[in-house]
Amino acid sequence: MTVTIVGSQLGDEGKGALVDRWGGDADVVVRYQGGDNAGHTVVEGGEEYKLSLVPSGAVRGTIGVLGNGCVVNPRTLFTEIDGLRDRGLDPDVRIARRAHVIFPYHRVLDGIEEEGKSDDDSGVEVGTTGRGIGPTYEDKAGRRGIRVGDLLDPDVLRERLEYVVPHKRRVAEAVYGLDVAESDHADAFDVEALYEEFVEVGERLADDEMTINCSDFLYRRRTAGDRILFEGAQGTSIDIDHGNYPFVTSSNPTAGGAAVGSGTGVTTVGAGEVVGIVKAYLSRVGAGPLPTELDGDDDEAALADEIREKGGEFGTVTGRPRRIGWLDLPMLRHASRVSGFTGIAINHVDVLADLPELQVCVEYELDGERLDTVPTTTQRWARCEPVYREFDTWSMGDWTETEYDTLPESARSYVEFVAEEVDAAVYAVGVGPDREETIELANPFEDAAD
Ligand code: IMP
Repeated sequence: MTVTIVGSQLGDEGKGALVDRWGGDADVVVRYQGGDNAGHTVVEGGEEYKLSLVPSGAVRGTIGVLGNGCVVNPRTLFTEIDGLRDRGLDPDVRIARRAHVIFPYHRVLDGIEEEGKSDDDSGVEVGTTGRGIGPTYEDKAGRRGIRVGDLLDPDVLRERLEYVVPHKRRVAEAVYGLDVAESDHADAFDVEALYEEFVEVGERLADDEMTINCSDFLYRRRTAGDRILFEGAQGTSIDIDHGNYPFVTSSNPTAGGAAVGSGTGVTTVGAGEVVGIVKAYLSRVGAGPLPTELDGDDDEAALADEIREKGGEFGTVTGRPRRIGWLDLPMLRHASRVSGFTGIAINHVDVLADLPELQVCVEYELDGERLDTVPTTTQRWARCEPVYREFDTWSMGDWTETEYDTLPESARSYVEFVAEEVDAAVYAVGVGPDREETIELANPFEDAAD
């Protein structure tokens, strides 16, 4: 059986806590898209683990797979694995040979393209994480990428580098005006330097027997009875197809991505559970519209500050303060329809406690019309006016942390209203960052029909 975890908003919904919790019931946890732009914080026994590439399940000793839909920066991969080993863990991480590799030139190009966009004031700067994600997916689609499997064969690696590196160098120089030779990035565009570093990466991957045929590996594990958890990174509204383009990441965090990005049949993913992770309010790192953003008068700014501080809303990867907004139901309906949620988990319910007011956007108003979902163009979305419904707030400390029934009634009403609106069952409610601070109403591996 499979369970797929999907971010239903803009990333940072607290997926790591649920993946970690349910990953313990899985035999294999698979990331199917993205790379080290992710940033998951897992708290286990008071210890905090910040991971950006290694699947969160690895903290609990589950096999972690980076599927073919991922883009892999080997430097980050080895740093994270070595860091976990230094802290006494023994992560078992496997990498799809069909996954694409992030090279140093991808990061440089990500940085200079964003810089260029911010300089010319065109308003198209995305605010990427600077990890080279977009440029690597560009090369994948442009058929000039280098896959993990290519690192295992030095001749193929050299051949691929000799083709692609001069091309990248010309782009850096002619399009972005970078004087590569005189810059700090000369090695990032040097075939020999790259060859030497990445041959060694291939050797370590081979010595540690980390690479797999992902589709075949998962098929065999699943048919032998293993439970598979697909761990989506980022969120629906920054999906390359279904998000608010161009302020998106370059992969598909939505549930279809689990099939394509791991080589698992859509019938298999669809026969399992698909759980949307919802933050009880909104946060956004990077540019793009946010109709419910609390960015108006001083009162709104004070509310945003309070939520940001209580919720620790600063980017895991970049440390950037996140923009804050009220919960947006059109966005959630869109997410539920695109991924087909069977259940949801609502996180950070504790953060909303004791606020002076609490609003939920139930619809948008645009050009005199009411919309119950997100418009297809970012320009129209940016013009949407939220239609709010006010909710009663609740107080902290009124509930024990494990029983749903002990949540204040107003908090339960909030949670149940959201579930009804997206037509999915509530599987969990997060009332704090620690794993014990998640109230579980159902475990998708245990309670769902197999
Ligand atoms: P990229 O994925 O680094 O190319 O960034 C593209 C957009 O996605 C930017 O707005 C980022 O802030 C956003 N983004 C990427 N990864 C995450 C994430 O894990 N959480 C939230 N936003 C993200």
